[in-house]
Amino acid sequence: MMLSACSGVHHATDPGSSDAGLVALLWWAMLIVGSVIFAGVLALLAVAISRAPRGGPERPLSQRRGWTLVVAGGIALPVVVILAMVIGSTLVGREIAARQSDPVVTADIMGQLWWWEVRYYDASGEHIATTANEIHVPVGQPVRFRLRSDNVIHSFWIPNLQGKTDLIPGQVNETWVTAREPGVVRGICAEFCGLQHARMGFVVVAEPPEAFREWLRLQSEPAAEPDAPALEAGQDVFMAQCAACHTIRGTPAAGELGPDLTHLASRRTLAAATIPNTRGHLGGWITDPQSVKAGARMPPNAPEPEQLRQLLDYLGSLR
Ligand code: CUA
Repeated sequence: MMLSACSGVHHATDPGSSDAGLVALLWWAMLIVGSVIFAGVLALLAVAISRAPRGGPERPLSQRRGWTLVVAGGIALPVVVILAMVIGSTLVGREIAARQSDPVVTADIMGQLWWWEVRYYDASGEHIATTANEIHVPVGQPVRFRLRSDNVIHSFWIPNLQGKTDLIPGQVNETWVTAREPGVVRGICAEFCGLQHARMGFVVVAEPPEAFREWLRLQSEPAAEPDAPALEAGQDVFMAQCAACHTIRGTPAAGELGPDLTHLASRRTLAAATIPNTRGHLGGWITDPQSVKAGARMPPNAPEPEQLRQLLDYLGSLR
């Protein structure tokens, strides 16, 4: 059952960066050493049970057979093994820290309840784009993430690309990623942060630098203007029912409670990588978010059916 948790590709033993490769090496070393020790302990336990003396006088502990094994196996061996693990993990941590180079891209990651706000900056440090729950990185170029939270502690973890780093209110932690090859992997919050901690996921898209630039350029633009009456009607529904919590750049909608939806239709998932971004899922999420993610801060909405269709048309046009 535990091994089944290792299925799929979103895990630390399938590294997509050289840093993650080091973490994976450490993981394998710990698994193998731990497994050997576990098997050895069970074998000794079986021997002890099968050879247990039946009755007879009690001898002092130090005169019993196997006393040296107890000292060597119970004290000396654990000290040596734990020390080796501590040294190994310290060396891996230092090596990863030493590899930090000047970032080509900088993004802020804000831990929200329970989703991820992502803000990109240009080379001069100016904030150019905001998105949510989907992070794009250029292959082969170092990306620096500044991790922030103004609520509780979260932990930013992309198992295939990097170890965990906490988001701690009141301070800014940094981590960095250099993806080796293009691909889409999943990230997750790795620190219990409340009701929907388990559904605080995100998607990481590693793509060739040109494709990344094109994506970032698109994300930095304001939303597409509605160019059909149905889309205009949908925008009106949005302004009336959604704009208090959500921003769409280029429109008066400037709510800051929920994710920026300027380019919602370009994202792969909804609700922090909980459901795919399809028209059907989006409709279900808008009308009954609590059935998808109980405790989410998004309230239920009850637009008229025609209004909902118009709203979905409009949101679907936000590419
Ligand atoms: Cu955020 Cu767990």
